Amino acid sequence: MSTIDKKSEKINEIILITECEDGTPHIAPFGIRERDGLILIAPFRPSTSLDNLLSGRRATVNATDDVRVFAGALTGRRNWLVEDRVGALILQSTLSYQSLKLEKVEDDVQRPKLYFSKLKEEMLKPFQGFNRAQAAVVELSVLVSRLHMLSIEKITSEMEYLSITIKKTASDNELEAWSWLVEAVENHRTQLLGNNIA
Ligand SMILES: Cc1cc2nc3c(=O)[nH]c(=O)nc-3n(C[C@H](O)[C@H](O)[C@H](O)COP(=O)(O)O)c2cc1C
Repeated sequence: MSTIDKKSEKINEIILITECEDGTPHIAPFGIRERDGLILIAPFRPSTSLDNLLSGRRATVNATDDVRVFAGALTGRRNWLVEDRVGALILQSTLSYQSLKLEKVEDDVQRPKLYFSKLKEEMLKPFQGFNRAQAAVVELSVLVSRLHMLSIEKITSEMEYLSITIKKTASDNELEAWSWLVEAVENHRTQLLGNNIA
């Protein structure tokens, strides 16, 4: 059995809503950690979320189990209703949120680290328990966010494995999110084939 040689640090996959210069909300999935009582977000450059976070405008961490928001952000579907709740930017599906205040930046040319304190935290809906299809959609979303870094063979084999869970445990939301991601992978595959023929 293999052991994992890693100093473990829990990462939670959330939806970050930041505010653009013109006031429109920007929705993007991020993995966040807690370090020394602060929330750490590390966006790769270039990133609209990073620009918005550095500007000091409003930013809110949304914990949601609507995985369509994750898949949608990666496939050009970011048009979700965002409510302004006393300064916090909230999705309709959000279970809990934290509005953020930028405290510290560790700059880096590739991936700066931004540390935030919580301005406000609120629980809105109960956590219903783990759903494996939701986890599968989040996993495929991560792969789709790295389409140009991974081989199509790796993506295809992971997608086949994850699809078993989708077939067993998905409801309509997960099926819809899954279909958007599969379409993105297939478009990428077609593009690769076209490049090889040309
Ligand atoms: C579950 C999940 C976690 C992610 N976490 C990160 C992250 O920690 N840092 C990052 O730069 N991108 C992350 N991504 C990819 C970004 O969401 C994606 O690149 C997004 O478009 C950010 O760019 P933007 O701020 O310009 O919208 C993640 C994607 C998914 C699906």
